[in-house]
Amino acid sequence: MTIVKNISDLSNIIADQYSKSLKIGLVPTMGSLHNGHLSLIKIAKEKCDVVWVSIFINPTQFNNLKDYESYPKQNLNDIKILKSVSSSIYVFFPAVNEIYNKKIVAQKFKFDNINKVLEGKKRPGHFDGVATIIMKLFKIFKPSMAFFGEKDYQQTLIVQYIIDNYFPNIDLIICPTIRNSDGLALSSRNKLISDQSINQSKIIFEILNFVKMNFSKIEYNKLIKIVKKRIEAINKFELEYFEIRENITLNSYDPKNQKNNYRAFICVKIEGVRLIDNLLIN
Ligand code: PAF
Repeated sequence: MTIVKNISDLSNIIADQYSKSLKIGLVPTMGSLHNGHLSLIKIAKEKCDVVWVSIFINPTQFNNLKDYESYPKQNLNDIKILKSVSSSIYVFFPAVNEIYNKKIVAQKFKFDNINKVLEGKKRPGHFDGVATIIMKLFKIFKPSMAFFGEKDYQQTLIVQYIIDNYFPNIDLIICPTIRNSDGLALSSRNKLISDQSINQSKIIFEILNFVKMNFSKIEYNKLIKIVKKRIEAINKFELEYFEIRENITLNSYDPKNQKNNYRAFICVKIEGVRLIDNLLIN
């Protein structure tokens, strides 16, 4: 396994891989790796000649300093995990200065509606920060393919925007959400929650499946009330949002237009930690 910490070393290796016409796959992560990340890497290895995993907790995508500081970190363990998966993975592990060169600010983008709702609304500036780091990584790696998880579905729309507008040669590969045996979507943030609440968090996927089964039978406002009641019946669980939106534009659900594809989005705050999930419902 090759670990690289600075951009100039990385550029030399990438230039060599390019000269050999190798297909480069990029899996961007913020570390604290779990089976969700490993499934992205596995898919990337099947589709590409070389796989780069970046591990970088990107400061500009946190709208809240406390959230940035408490984001789980397990660098040594991450390296161990990657080594156990494959000896041929390349890892980019930069320091903040290497990426931002003392100017830790996000670029501003005009994403239209996709940035104004759900996570974009609740975390002002978050997607500008995500897009900033993705632009930087795409510029450095020029990958053929980039791999992202469906769990952060709204993020994949932002990445698609970046690709459409700046990097049309990159293919975005959206990989299925990996869940634990109870259905809870794997997330690095799960590590911040007590075992008892993690066990109770299976309600999130249960409720998404309930919505999938019932959204054409139960009126939308009533559905929202049911979801809120079921989530908030659990101690320390608070519903931050539950919304059904059109799959690509993220426009609001229109019950008169059943031809659209709709996706249900949920964010539950558990012991102060935000867990998000989503499900295509038709
Ligand atoms: O999904 C994440 O872990 C991050 O938002 C990403 C894509 C690595 C950008 O920092």
